[in-house]
Amino acid sequence: MTDKARAAQAAGEFHRLTGDHPEGIWEAPGRVNLIGEHTDYNGGWALPFAIDRSTVVAVRRRPDHVVRVWSANLGQEAAAPIRDLDPARASAQPSWARYPLGVVWSALGRGADLPGLDISVTSTVPLGSGLSSSAALTVAVAVAVNDIAGTAWGVEELARVAQEAEARFAGVPCGLLDQLAALGARRGHAVLIDFMSLSRELVPLGPGPLVVISTGAQRANAAGAYANRRAACERAAGVLGLPTLRQASLEQVEARLEGELLRRARHVATENARVMQAVRRLHDRQPLGDLLTASHVSLRDDYEVSCPELDLAVGTALREGATGARLTGAGFGGCAIAIGVSAEALAVPVAKAFADAGFKPPTVFDVEPSERARRLA
Ligand code: GLA
Repeated sequence: MTDKARAAQAAGEFHRLTGDHPEGIWEAPGRVNLIGEHTDYNGGWALPFAIDRSTVVAVRRRPDHVVRVWSANLGQEAAAPIRDLDPARASAQPSWARYPLGVVWSALGRGADLPGLDISVTSTVPLGSGLSSSAALTVAVAVAVNDIAGTAWGVEELARVAQEAEARFAGVPCGLLDQLAALGARRGHAVLIDFMSLSRELVPLGPGPLVVISTGAQRANAAGAYANRRAACERAAGVLGLPTLRQASLEQVEARLEGELLRRARHVATENARVMQAVRRLHDRQPLGDLLTASHVSLRDDYEVSCPELDLAVGTALREGATGARLTGAGFGGCAIAIGVSAEALAVPVAKAFADAGFKPPTVFDVEPSERARRLA
């Protein structure tokens, strides 16, 4: 669908819901992280790209200091007076609505002058599947609010607004990877993000299929396990006397840490090195599949965030001719990415492998490196 068609569809939906026309339409993409997992909150590097699945919001100001949000995907709506927007009361809202309402709360806290808002949301990012549907939503609302309030925030501030909404209002701890990917990526490129300086550099991805295998698996306490990994990294940096694991060399890690902290920190140190190697290979037009597969092994064995479904997805993709494959995103379920093989070639063997293992049917689809968040109309 073209930009124009997506905008028209969102405007039509808004009109159906409110009887009015939106002031504007904004869009933010989901993301796949090519490599650099669990490095963002360690001040390291990652190399995500935006995908051709996105969240579109249609927005209009309303004078009565109420924020009303609709989800076309869920067929639900929620509302709150602006004065009641408060993380302490967020749990009274349906969980999906905490993301857009949290963005409004965060923007107000940073001085944005907003009356009430009507916001309708439609999304083609599969919800809660590890492709950052939540950042697509918070970033889409953040860029809308930025334009409507005239705050002129740049990429970093917008990413922080979106992250604060997710962390404080929706109660999901996260780094800045997903938000910066949605705000900084460009068509045909991945974006190298340095999480120390938050600087970004575009890296051309070249041709070649990029395939997502969505396992549909979701571990029960993924948020708790994520927080636990972060805490272990902070402890490991503390033992090494470093501000973050970004500064840790593999030699230091292997010489001075043991047990769980050794494994977690070894993943971070080797993963940062793999990101840099991947960037060099892309610039030199060299294959990088082995780096992706090594990242998966490290996430599985050292960081311990894989699961049987992800391991099966990666193993099957490699057996069927992928040059590299890995889990992408936080892990504990969600998606894997495979390169060097088409979705068409993978769909049947992956479905069969999942059926044989007694797992839920997965979904396999091609993704295209796509454009960052922006105003559509
Ligand atoms: C989730 C978080 C990101 C990042 C990844 C792991 O997607 O939202 O900030 O930490 O996990 O790389």
